[in-house]
Amino acid sequence: MCGIVGYVGPAVPSTRPLDVALEGLARLEYRGYDSAGVALVTPTGLATAKRAGKLANLREALEADPLPPATAGIGHTRWATHGAPTDANAHPQLSADGRLAVIHNGIIENFAPLKAELLEAGVPFTSETDTEVAAHLLGRAYDETGGLTAAMLAVTRRLEGAFTLLAMHAEEPGTVVGARLNSPLVVGLGDGENYLGSDVAAFIGHTREALELGQDQVVTITAEEVRVVDGDGTPATGRRYTVDWDANAAVKGGFATFMDKEIHDQPKAVADTLLGRHDGAGNLVLDELRIEPAVLRSVDKIIVVACGTAAYAGHVAKYAIEHWCRIPVEVELAHEFRYRDPVVSEKTLVVAISQSGETMDTIMAIRHAREQGAKVLAVVNTHGSTIARESDAVLYTHAGPEVAVASTKAFLAQITACYLLGLYLAELRGNKYADEVADYLAELGKLPAKIQELLDREGEVRAVAEAMKDVTSVLFLGRHVGYPVALEGALKLKELAYIHAEGFAAGELKHGPIALIEEGQPVFVVVPTPRRPTLHAKVVSNIQEVRARGARTLVIAEEGDEAVTAFADVVFRVPRTPTLMMPLVTVVPLQIFASALATAKGLDVDQPRNLAKSVTVE
Ligand code: F6R
Repeated sequence: MCGIVGYVGPAVPSTRPLDVALEGLARLEYRGYDSAGVALVTPTGLATAKRAGKLANLREALEADPLPPATAGIGHTRWATHGAPTDANAHPQLSADGRLAVIHNGIIENFAPLKAELLEAGVPFTSETDTEVAAHLLGRAYDETGGLTAAMLAVTRRLEGAFTLLAMHAEEPGTVVGARLNSPLVVGLGDGENYLGSDVAAFIGHTREALELGQDQVVTITAEEVRVVDGDGTPATGRRYTVDWDANAAVKGGFATFMDKEIHDQPKAVADTLLGRHDGAGNLVLDELRIEPAVLRSVDKIIVVACGTAAYAGHVAKYAIEHWCRIPVEVELAHEFRYRDPVVSEKTLVVAISQSGETMDTIMAIRHAREQGAKVLAVVNTHGSTIARESDAVLYTHAGPEVAVASTKAFLAQITACYLLGLYLAELRGNKYADEVADYLAELGKLPAKIQELLDREGEVRAVAEAMKDVTSVLFLGRHVGYPVALEGALKLKELAYIHAEGFAAGELKHGPIALIEEGQPVFVVVPTPRRPTLHAKVVSNIQEVRARGARTLVIAEEGDEAVTAFADVVFRVPRTPTLMMPLVTVVPLQIFASALATAKGLDVDQPRNLAKSVTVE
């Protein structure tokens, strides 16, 4: 959700704190973009600026009315929870005396009684945010304790919920203090300067050296020092690591949008996720799976927990893992999981899939699963994220930073990582011989080139999308692994182009959805390979059924599949690919279609309305 950046530099005031904060916010804007703000500690006290709307509005305001040089700064880009996206509700929020500034990500659940207490004590409020409660409490605690770190420790003990806070005080011009309670916060280690960010993108332009913090910790940064304490004030140490991508990975690199760039990153995302996970002779090397082989052999059920696109990746993986390993796999939306009293035991393997590793719904699901005795394996893209830290083992997807709010390359990398897991389990449990695993690995290895082939022909899809920019409803059908692809195609179109779109299992059509078909209704159909004749024939019948009722059919089919040609208004060809691998190619035209159609409508495909990249509140 919200993006947070903090910086402390040399004691001589300069424009660097503002420059660092604005650069960090530009890289973090994908986390939320309802409003943006900065606060600086200057020789004459705090200086702040904030504006509703995108970061560009804040930049304009700062050009018209520049802030003075400073020694430290904090910056915030907001995804509104409490209070509309207005200037007043934008962060930073200030204490009553205007000497302390706070920015915040997450939700303070007990803000109402605390606000009532403060109002009773005569504290004036200027916003509708829960953040302002923290600002006033911190201001009062500062007066009592005389120090920002002590004030933060005292206040976080009173706050409930999941949140990150950063604070600065006019009396401590060389300090920023942060608190992490179930919400992301990472430290960037510089030379004579230090940084805080809700993820490493906040400071990746300046340093790749980072420090991972634990939950319920408070961190104090100065130009020379980083001090970490637990919630009770006991000194603690974070885990130092080097970020394995640099600032260039998070720029558009010649593409018009991050979305386009990330769609084009997909061959590399798949290749990098496979890299180092096999020895070239067809043997899997998954040393990172720190769960004992004996435990994995005894698993009698897998439950995938995830949200949105990540859940669809899990849905695809279900088909492969069940087929290869003969273990039942359930796919559960993470936010439903813990509320339905799921049957989980120490023989259950919970696989949590998440690009950000910070999705609160998924975090709560894995905590619940571990409480029930299950082992949790995370398939995560973001190093050191909460889901990675709280799981028994992590299989990282090496997709690189995904900046566009809607997920594309992470989806392909998640399927790839889940397939590696499935093959590993299949071999470990004796369901597949090593040579069979080697054959599958070889097929996975061919995918980057096949995806590239589709990208080289993207113009065909773009032309169709542009011609369809005025459509108001699009349906997507798929069977078997094509079903989650249909769901993902519909999700991409909804979120990028704001068009009513629905994905269906093709077999469900006659049980209701076919009533939606009328003259001209566009229907995408994801067709399985003709080398699965029974499955293929069923889908070809489904195309005919909708076409007979007036639908305009846009068919995604394998090269050489002539059976579809007579019933398709448009055919997008994908390279010949084994059944279980098909989602990694069939989804690509759907991603391009959604992006191109949204662009043709003049929409912002990187930052669609109402969304945020990382959903860190439940
Ligand atoms: C859709 C999309 C979302 C995310 C979902 C989970 O394009 O991006 O549906 O897939 O919010 O996010 P992560 O993977 O970060 O847990």
